[in-house]
Amino acid sequence: MPKKIKKVGVLTSGGDSPGMNAAIRSVVRTCAYHNIECIGIYRGYQGMIEGDFKEMGPRSVNNIVNKGGTILKSARSLEFKTPEGRKQAHENLIKAGIDALVVIGGDGTFTGGLLFNNEFGFPVMGIPGTIDNDIFGTSHTLGYDTALNTVVDVIDKIRDTASSHNRLFFVEVMGRDAGHIALNAGIGAGAEEILIPEEDLGLERLLESLQKSKASGKSSSIVVIAEGDKIGKNVFELKDYVEANLPEYDVRVSVLGHMQRGGSPSCFDRVLASRLGVKAVESLLEGKSNYMVGLQNDKVALTPLEQAIKGKTEIDKELLRVSDIMST
Ligand code: F6P
Repeated sequence: MPKKIKKVGVLTSGGDSPGMNAAIRSVVRTCAYHNIECIGIYRGYQGMIEGDFKEMGPRSVNNIVNKGGTILKSARSLEFKTPEGRKQAHENLIKAGIDALVVIGGDGTFTGGLLFNNEFGFPVMGIPGTIDNDIFGTSHTLGYDTALNTVVDVIDKIRDTASSHNRLFFVEVMGRDAGHIALNAGIGAGAEEILIPEEDLGLERLLESLQKSKASGKSSSIVVIAEGDKIGKNVFELKDYVEANLPEYDVRVSVLGHMQRGGSPSCFDRVLASRLGVKAVESLLEGKSNYMVGLQNDKVALTPLEQAIKGKTEIDKELLRVSDIMST
């Protein structure tokens, strides 16, 4: 029989994403609903090592469902990677009477949680929070939908200048290892070409495509590039390369950067966060551990943390074809 859970700790770790606050709120209120205590752990695993804890009642999460970032703050803790750091963190949890953890973040966060469970048998449940949508076992991570909307909104604005000045814009979006943002926001914003880490388009094809679009009568274009694309040049080198090979193009670069991680979460992310928080706490209460709660075919489902960490998310190849057809 697993130990009855009476106090749950919740933390956010790694890169922040819109919807993390809505998830914290959901965890806190689900605990209150089931008459168990909830403790907020500040600055992720670093706060666990330093005992930076605060009791959270249902009123402590008023007015945060609409807020970007994370009220619990986030950090990437190097100390938690050491056995001494984890031992200290475990001692602090025991001292505070915490008997289960909900960790909100990406694969680094889950790796930490799994290691902690393996060493101390401590119950852990993960909620996927990253704008990159690169976590296996969920169709959507928290913040991804908001980031898509942010990117599309910004590219719409860039398009005004592109079309007024007959320019070609290279817009770099986030996604170190994953092209989900680039591919979906690129289609949504009507990009001419989309460069993603999963597919090597090749420089020649890019030049051909740009030539073709000029010849077809387009006077301005937008190319969306994921920061981790495979074309072998950074976005500024790519601009120089295209200008050297296609002098008819006047190219500008916009690197969207961290603005993509901020802002008020979309309705989709708020609802998702609320659903995942409920499932995370209730799964812990049922004695489950070492799972990530995610969305599969619109239903909330559990994936073993190990699979969520190791599994690769696939891009939808059909979207590449759709993008090609749309740029005709
Ligand atoms: O949240 C994921 C991500 O946005 C990546 O796409 C990006 O490379 C990275 O975070 C940058 O994070 P940071 O600035 O926190 O190192």
